[in-house]
Amino acid sequence: MAFTIAIDGPAAAGKGTVSRAVAAHFGFAHLDTGLLYRATGRRTLDGTDPVEAARALRASDLEADDLRTPDVAQAASRVAAIPQVREALVDFQRAFARRAGGAVLDGRDIGTVICPEAEVKLFVTASDEVRAGRRFRELQENGFDTTLDEVLDDLRVRDARDSARAAAPLKPAGDAITLDTSDMSIEQAVAAAVEAVAARLEN
Ligand code: DC
Repeated sequence: MAFTIAIDGPAAAGKGTVSRAVAAHFGFAHLDTGLLYRATGRRTLDGTDPVEAARALRASDLEADDLRTPDVAQAASRVAAIPQVREALVDFQRAFARRAGGAVLDGRDIGTVICPEAEVKLFVTASDEVRAGRRFRELQENGFDTTLDEVLDDLRVRDARDSARAAAPLKPAGDAITLDTSDMSIEQAVAAAVEAVAARLEN
């Protein structure tokens, strides 16, 4: 059975955590589509053409261990605004979405462009301050020397670019369920998402 769960939202809203937990709960496969743009963006840092980089992407590139740096995040957001880059990554994402056994994809345009027919669509969001606080702690734990203000600025620049671009901008699908995790624990956010999926699976 193919069953697709589309999870979109701005940076550091909790999409990754919710997606992994939902996939584990239902035994579905999970694809963090941000990694496709991060791996593409990372290749451009040494001067590679973004469209060439996207076309040459291999599944093993998604496992590189330096995809979570702030520089790579900004490069990802820049290449993600290029329509030919997005086009080069569509088939892989759609094939993943329709694999047997169910799939969870998280990103910015999953419910709107990649899988408009997804059985469940969630838009996971949180206030700028809450998102920056979470990302700041994560970066600190990984040994990055940064400040909360720097992280907040970084997120705002990226969200503004991701939302304003013409090609597949960040926005909730008309039929998405919005989950504002600002005042939720991880457990509460996961429980709300699991409930939304379970309700759809029962029908
Ligand atoms: O989810 P993330 O923060 O790892 O994503 C990195 C960047 O990639 C993000 O700023 C915008 C882009 N992106 C996108 O345009 N579409 C997606 N489906 C996923 C990510």
